[in-house]
Amino acid sequence: MSGELSPIDKAKFVAAKRAAEFVESGMRVGLGTGSTAAWLVRCLGELVREEGLRFKGVPTSTRTAELARDVGIEVISLDEAKWLDLTIDGADEFDEELSLIKGGGGALLQEKIVATASDQMVVIADAAKEVGHLGAFPLPVEVIPFGWQTSLALIEEMLISMDVMGRKATLRMNGDRPYITDEANHILDLHLTRIGNPRQLSMVLNQIPGVVENGLFIDICDKVVIGHGDGRVEVR
Ligand code: 5RP
Repeated sequence: MSGELSPIDKAKFVAAKRAAEFVESGMRVGLGTGSTAAWLVRCLGELVREEGLRFKGVPTSTRTAELARDVGIEVISLDEAKWLDLTIDGADEFDEELSLIKGGGGALLQEKIVATASDQMVVIADAAKEVGHLGAFPLPVEVIPFGWQTSLALIEEMLISMDVMGRKATLRMNGDRPYITDEANHILDLHLTRIGNPRQLSMVLNQIPGVVENGLFIDICDKVVIGHGDGRVEVR
């Protein structure tokens, strides 16, 4: 399945393959979104087809749902599952406390709901995602389309009073149109450089009118599986 991969894809693949070993028959499993999570879904599909693994998957986006069905995974909704044994998902950044920035792929809302409804969240990532401080990756914030410019202005005003280095927020685009999430919302990307207090920032962001959710995952991730370009895997 992995063929000739670039070092970055190999790192994502080996992390995903290792994390797939955590899935056992009978489990209800949250399936993340993004290129690393797509490797996971393909690895799990192979285990379903060739090893008889039987589990129910709860996808975190329409993209993941389509891929999961294509590879033979039984897909159910979160409301059908009610509670999950495990969620495995990618991340844009993780720090030593396993705090995360997620949402680079625009699926942070479903990802946070699904991860929070799970006994365990495992992140799969290539080694480049590890950072000393969160914030170099632009922080995605999902906002409703109504009045998004007001939400953006309120966020920029709030950032001035916070322990962050950047101040600027931009509307994520898809070509010449605003990016639309699975919940028909927009994404604002906050260019912060360095986030001093992720917990506080996450709470303050979610109080701003129009903000649905932000991409800071604090106290949600339990374990990270880190892949390297030479095929090595670390579990922390
Ligand atoms: C999607 C996400 C992804 O998990 C994150 O962007 C990492 O993506 P990739 O595995 O492609 O690097 O949060 O909303």
